[in-house]
Amino acid sequence: MSRLSLRLVIGSGPTREWLDPVRFLTNASTGRTGWNLARHGLSRFEEVIFISGPADPRFVHVEGARNIEVDTTEEMAQAVQAEIADDTLLIMAAAPADYTPAEPGAQKIKKESGSDLLLRLRPTTDILKSIIPLARGRRGLFRAGFAAETIDTEAYARRKLAEKDLDFICANRVYKTTCGFGDNDNSLLVIDRSGNATMIGPQNKEKLASLLLDHLVSQITVTSARETL
Ligand code: CTP
Repeated sequence: MSRLSLRLVIGSGPTREWLDPVRFLTNASTGRTGWNLARHGLSRFEEVIFISGPADPRFVHVEGARNIEVDTTEEMAQAVQAEIADDTLLIMAAAPADYTPAEPGAQKIKKESGSDLLLRLRPTTDILKSIIPLARGRRGLFRAGFAAETIDTEAYARRKLAEKDLDFICANRVYKTTCGFGDNDNSLLVIDRSGNATMIGPQNKEKLASLLLDHLVSQITVTSARETL
């Protein structure tokens, strides 16, 4: 297979938002999808940059990629923003926390028996939205996001495609125990900027990552060929 003269940047895994020095908010993302995409990208792209939150230890490091480990959504935002350049495909397969404690405790929060603990959370940076201004005027920069939904998958995915100004959105339905987060078999509905939708899978996440990369690469090749005409 011939390599594309493109860099592949993958955002992967969950992030942590600290309540105090010993407790954090996070989610159930294992990082498996991002890790598989990065591994399969090694043979297809000139360089692979793998930006991972604190995922399952099996899926934090990709041999042969440039690995960047981050913890919070803010750190992931900065790492992704620093990699925005021409001739780059960014795939945000990460599940960054959307909220962070407004007033994290400098010391461990002590329990007060009998009373509720109220947490006030403020929104974190939406990483894909934050790169919209950085993407203006770039040549050969393609942005793909994921939409993990429990209901109305396609409608929410189309909204995210528009709101995050993406070239592609990969929508999947997540269930607590049967599909999506943490589990192996999955399918993706990939919708491009023009609204065309392609179903990929169901397949295990390893094969799905390979099929998704093939699909994105073929779409990018067609777009680039059109632009040079
Ligand atoms: N994403 C991001 N920055 C965030 C949260 C999500 O860039 N702070 C990216 C994800 O990596 C994914 C896409 O945005 O590619 C959609 O993420 P998702 O969690 O499905 O949607 P949200 O935008 O967080 O909205 P909601 O949680 O309300 O569905």
